[in-house]
Amino acid sequence: MVKKFLVGVASAGMALTLAACSGGGAGESTDETSAAATGGSEPVVEGGLVGVAMPTQTSERWIADGDAVQSGLEELGYEVDLQFANDDIPTQANQIDQMITNGAEALIIASIDGTALASQLEAAAAADIPVIAYDRLIRDSENVDFYVTFDNYNVGVQQATSLLVGLGLLNQDGSEGDAAGPFNVELFAGSLDDNNAHFFWQGAIDTLQPYLDDETITVPSGQTDIEQTNTLRWQQETAQKRMEDLLTSTYTGSDLELHGVLSPYDGISRGIITALQNAGYGPSIADGLPVVTGQDAEIASVKLIADDIQSATIFKDTRKLAAQAITATDDYLSGGEPEANDTETYDNGVKVVPSYLLESDIVYADNIQSLLVDSGYWTAEEVEAGVAE
Ligand code: BGC
Repeated sequence: MVKKFLVGVASAGMALTLAACSGGGAGESTDETSAAATGGSEPVVEGGLVGVAMPTQTSERWIADGDAVQSGLEELGYEVDLQFANDDIPTQANQIDQMITNGAEALIIASIDGTALASQLEAAAAADIPVIAYDRLIRDSENVDFYVTFDNYNVGVQQATSLLVGLGLLNQDGSEGDAAGPFNVELFAGSLDDNNAHFFWQGAIDTLQPYLDDETITVPSGQTDIEQTNTLRWQQETAQKRMEDLLTSTYTGSDLELHGVLSPYDGISRGIITALQNAGYGPSIADGLPVVTGQDAEIASVKLIADDIQSATIFKDTRKLAAQAITATDDYLSGGEPEANDTETYDNGVKVVPSYLLESDIVYADNIQSLLVDSGYWTAEEVEAGVAE
């Protein structure tokens, strides 16, 4: 294992661990410079290796998550092995095996398939390595210690709410809007192997149900089941193809007009919008492009929202999620337990995993500034360009 010298002690928890590791007294310096000054005879202090497994670099949120977790842990003196698995399950399993072999003392895992890591988790448990599920629940295993995420059901509620606002059935403040409908809507879900996809879907469907029941909203394709609407690995191309197929099978050559699309993720939204524009809708919402929702506040989609092309997205501040993962890791490696704020919602099939849930916000064109720019998530220039700097 590659060792890293600790240059500063950034938390009380770390200080305790380090004192224990070095066998030194509380007043002993752990500073690299002072070790050198004493002729290098001081014991080398290490912060411990943390393995961070992220699913893919094709979506910018996971890159941001990985960077934020890595830099935060490094600031606390930990060494970080950050890996992205290209959305390939065996690659992620190998990466985690390797982290354990390399002596990782904690694992932070955003899984691709929440059920596919059983042997890695057993190895981690056998080596007393705490496992923190990052954003996506790891399912069907005893060997997951903690879960940091957002209120995923509420994300689905927000996605459906943003669709209703885009259609004019609701106002942003939740009051009833001016529109009466009926509206034609199509539904998209995320990847079935991602536990979150089911929570987003359920939150959205529960919110749309009264409008479906009284036929204010209809789904002309008849595809209203997650088995029909899911998008494997959340892929943009897959979503674009399904939207093209829906248009051909249900809308083209009829007088049916599509008014809205529930989309669970910005990449999927961009695939949907491309299919719609290619079929002659739009180009903007003002010109008749259907209202399309999203998630993640990816910069390309934030620009589409600013340009009246995508209707809304859900902002999940990955900086806050990373901070929770870092705190939980540091708590474990200091001999403590992280604090959960939810111990009921996330049953992984074997046990309820203690969780820390964060809140999310709906982004519309008129609050891009207050939610995303003022908070420093994106700069005004990035929003203007649609590209991260
Ligand atoms: C995350 C979403 C993301 C999706 C696709 C989900 O697990 O919670 O934020 O849009 O994966 O990457």
